[in-house]
Amino acid sequence: MLPAPPCAIVIFGASGDLVRRKLIPAIYELARQGLLNERAYVLGFARTPLDDDHFRAGCHDSLLAHARTRPIDEQVWRKLAARMHYASADYSSSEDYARVSALLNALDERYDTGGNRLYYLATPPAQFEPIIQHLGEKLRLRDALHPPAPEDGAFRRIILEKPFGRDLSSAHELNRVLHRHFREEQIFRIDHYLGKETVQNLMVMRFANSIFEPIWNYKYIDHVQITVAEDIGVGARGGYYDSAGALRDIVQNHMLQLMALVAMEPPVSLDAISVRDEKVKVYRSVRPIRAGAVGAFAVRGQYGPGECRGATTPGYLREKDVNPASRTETFAALKLFVDNWRWSGTPFYLRTGKFLPQKLTEIVVRFRSPPLTLFQKQCEAPVYPNDLLVRVQPDEGISLRLNGKVPGGQLNIRSVAMDFRYSSVFNAESPDSYERLIHDAMMGDQTLFIRADEAEAAWAVVDPIEKGWSEDKAPPHTYEPCTWGPKAAMDLIEADARRWLHGDNQPEPIIACSL
Ligand code: BG6
Repeated sequence: MLPAPPCAIVIFGASGDLVRRKLIPAIYELARQGLLNERAYVLGFARTPLDDDHFRAGCHDSLLAHARTRPIDEQVWRKLAARMHYASADYSSSEDYARVSALLNALDERYDTGGNRLYYLATPPAQFEPIIQHLGEKLRLRDALHPPAPEDGAFRRIILEKPFGRDLSSAHELNRVLHRHFREEQIFRIDHYLGKETVQNLMVMRFANSIFEPIWNYKYIDHVQITVAEDIGVGARGGYYDSAGALRDIVQNHMLQLMALVAMEPPVSLDAISVRDEKVKVYRSVRPIRAGAVGAFAVRGQYGPGECRGATTPGYLREKDVNPASRTETFAALKLFVDNWRWSGTPFYLRTGKFLPQKLTEIVVRFRSPPLTLFQKQCEAPVYPNDLLVRVQPDEGISLRLNGKVPGGQLNIRSVAMDFRYSSVFNAESPDSYERLIHDAMMGDQTLFIRADEAEAAWAVVDPIEKGWSEDKAPPHTYEPCTWGPKAAMDLIEADARRWLHGDNQPEPIIACSL
């Protein structure tokens, strides 16, 4: 990667958890690798009163706890810390914006950034609109609406954390507010899953190899499964989570992105426009679920009291900041169809949940069983279909399950795996997704960010399900922590004579055949 140009990184919501756990460690890591320009600086912006020294001390603590490479390099940190500043201000006060604006101008000059600015909105979403308005009005961003004059080629970009709206109409409204002040080329909507190495590798796997494309369609693929499982509960985020739920928190963004990368047509080029055009087409091809038919395509669940991997929970309804009568789902399983020529009739099963038995993000592409063969006739059971497993996390890698003969005089068949693991092949740890995404935003590359129409098209997939659930009188199914969700989720897939698959399933039994 090339070092990024000089710029101001202005973080709104700088005292929050995301900033401590992800953004500061990512910025430090970029600095450590020489990818952060020496003329770049950070201005943290939040309501909490702090001075620069306390802000820096807090950032140092975050690095001690969350830096990807530890021990931290104190020399790199000292150089970075000297360029980290903090302004405490009220997001809704015009006077405060005027003060921050003056501070930014002075810092731009001190560090000679050329006026480049990256505004990072890491605040709760309710604050997005007032901040965008103020940025537009008080920080004189109106000029950004017009192509920059050659003598003032400075960039002004804005990164927005998810959630981007809570349904189609709020996302549309947020886009409208954004577009009043920023051109789409200046807007970087984050989905941190797109920064994950394995997710990026999906495109390489599909389009840089010729063996997949001919069979990547309904003729050879029986179905696709996508799992995003977490082994923790909502923790301290009950307030946010209770107004979101699994569908908004994970499915609308991370899971639909994964699905789009599996289902999309080859883009005409790898530029941001072409790639995102193809993803939007996938969303637009998803068969809408009628509100009255939601039960046949979607299952929701809520974890009850119990224990998982040493963590105990009183159950979702008794978590901190959660409404005790809440119907918010902590688990969702869906069956979707992409109604286009390639995927005609091929189900995509998606499931996600909190307090499942393990942290696992995985895509399984199950191929159709071989046609009736010798083996089918002479074996005690049908041979196994092939599976292509893309493990996004942990143990990033790709594995292909094949049938193999067990050595010996008998004809016994076993399912075996050809494995490619990132850690052993490349012998290097993958960068954190925020490193990649912040660097891309500084470079102006939007490929791994969500475009306005893409966000809206993804909401259009999810909205009818939300609506169906809100009209449904039955509450979500309860499931025990450390299980794979409610029984209804098994029924959803088993009704189609299929079952949920995942990397840690028990090995399939050996099939004995007669010679
Ligand atoms: C976030 C969700 O977007 O993704 C969280 O808001 C979730 O609820 C997190 O825990 C999972 O991310 P990752 O990278 O750990 O899979």
